[in-house]
Amino acid sequence: MGGTITAWDAVIIGGGLTGLRAALQVSRAGLSVAVISKVHPLRSHSVAAQGGMNAALGNVRGEGGAVDSWESHAYDTVKGSDYLADQDAVALMCREAPATVLELEHMGTVWSRLEDGKIAQRPFGGAGFPRTCYAEDRTGHNVLHTLYQQVLGRKIPVFEEFFVTSLVRSGGRCMGCTALEIMTGAVHGFASRATLLATGGFGRIFSRSTNALINTGDGVALALRAGAPLKDMEFVQFHPTTLYGTNILISEAARGEGGILVNRTGERFMERYASHALELAPRDVVARAIEEEIARGNGFDGGYVHLDLRHLGPGRIMERLPGIRQIAMDFAGVDPVEEPIPVQPGQHYSMGGIDVNIGGMSGLSDLYAAGECACISVHGANRLGGNSLLETVVFGRLVADSIVGDLPKIHESAMDTVESAMKETETEIREILGRSGGESPFALIRELEETMFLHFGIFREGQMMQEGLRKIRRLRERSLQVSMTNRDSAVNQALVRYLELEGMLQLAEVVALGALAREESRGSHTRRDHPHRDDRRFLAHTMATIEEGEVAIAYKPVTLGMFKVEERGY
Ligand code: FUM
Repeated sequence: MGGTITAWDAVIIGGGLTGLRAALQVSRAGLSVAVISKVHPLRSHSVAAQGGMNAALGNVRGEGGAVDSWESHAYDTVKGSDYLADQDAVALMCREAPATVLELEHMGTVWSRLEDGKIAQRPFGGAGFPRTCYAEDRTGHNVLHTLYQQVLGRKIPVFEEFFVTSLVRSGGRCMGCTALEIMTGAVHGFASRATLLATGGFGRIFSRSTNALINTGDGVALALRAGAPLKDMEFVQFHPTTLYGTNILISEAARGEGGILVNRTGERFMERYASHALELAPRDVVARAIEEEIARGNGFDGGYVHLDLRHLGPGRIMERLPGIRQIAMDFAGVDPVEEPIPVQPGQHYSMGGIDVNIGGMSGLSDLYAAGECACISVHGANRLGGNSLLETVVFGRLVADSIVGDLPKIHESAMDTVESAMKETETEIREILGRSGGESPFALIRELEETMFLHFGIFREGQMMQEGLRKIRRLRERSLQVSMTNRDSAVNQALVRYLELEGMLQLAEVVALGALAREESRGSHTRRDHPHRDDRRFLAHTMATIEEGEVAIAYKPVTLGMFKVEERGY
């Protein structure tokens, strides 16, 4: 197994938009930086982001000719979050947004254009202005290629197909990590003055997810195990429109361009749920409405509604939504020019994550996090579409700036500490590979996904969640007796899936306990047994840590500021 040990100023775990943008910034400061990624960077899930990136450029006027501003963007974001977002972090993100979009343009992103040549912007859910900048309906693909090309240009080393197995912790600090090289089975050590987690979300603990199979929350679980608190993990976003049958994302851009939702009676039912915003209400509102229609028997057999784009005409569909048309034709056999698309809600995004301060520092010194794996709290209880791509690039850069500004000296003992962590990891892997007589990790993951969707889905209820928690704990016991048929550590998918599963089960328990303890409905967390928001008890962030082997839940205040907490209506 014996791998190498290397030392770096900064190690970035994750090769998606956040990780690549951060790597560029650290490298520009003249420091040594390595990116470690479970997959080739261009296979990171950022590549699948479709609809766009929000920024108050003001290129398209709003109602009555009004011009957008970063303050309007911040207001929409805070209201969309059901007032759980930290308003200082939201203000920072929204102020930085226009310069971020322009910087990407200068790096080479191919933004779609208006007639006058300016960057095009489209309406998105919960937004008071057409604010979402886009590259057709392949925005993540475009921006990821832009940043990867910049990383290649600076010759930043990328350790591809390396699975990070542990964070190395000593004296209350993070000193680097250990990683399994998937192709060879070698365990390597990375000593670093600062470590940044940029590993994306944990959507794959749920079935019916738009997420790639790689989105197993590895970085979030690594932080939890290393003692860094997690925040607001019960807030999981269900995207209203995923393709029935495969749950591939059908971008909100389809509704932004004018697509409408209809039930089996042909009714445009959003008129009853959000009479002003209709299909462009925020995602939590639209997902609940679709789920409710299906539960009332107004859906089509199998459990879906129709997203109708036909009135947009072939020209607009092909110009603005070519990827969506292709997905619908390839995976559902439906051409949206001629037929409505069958859609149902599906898990899409993790609002919660590793608790970090506004500089991206976690609860463990020298460990940082940014992007979807982090909770700097710009999304609160419900994220607005188009704010996640923005968060990745804004905070990829700003957190890298904090790393550069705060960089500690390398600790004398770092290499020795990393070396003993490598030995421990090797022993653990050997022990796992020797297991037999249990179940396959693939089967356990499938069962976990089904459990989470059934018991912690769009509508939640106390008894149902208690039952789900019992199932998660039982799955955890069963996972200890896993069966490994391939006993080699090289190119062993079952081993990688098992290492992922260990973290997924821990995160599932944190989601469950946070959801049970939060006896209210706020944003994406909707409890049938507690249908109202309760600001007196729960205008607070849920904090989760592991204490003596058990998950402990506590609360900390939300940072308020510019905007008064109000009733939310659309
Ligand atoms: O619907 C979408 O295109 C997704 C965008 C997002 O999650 O921000």
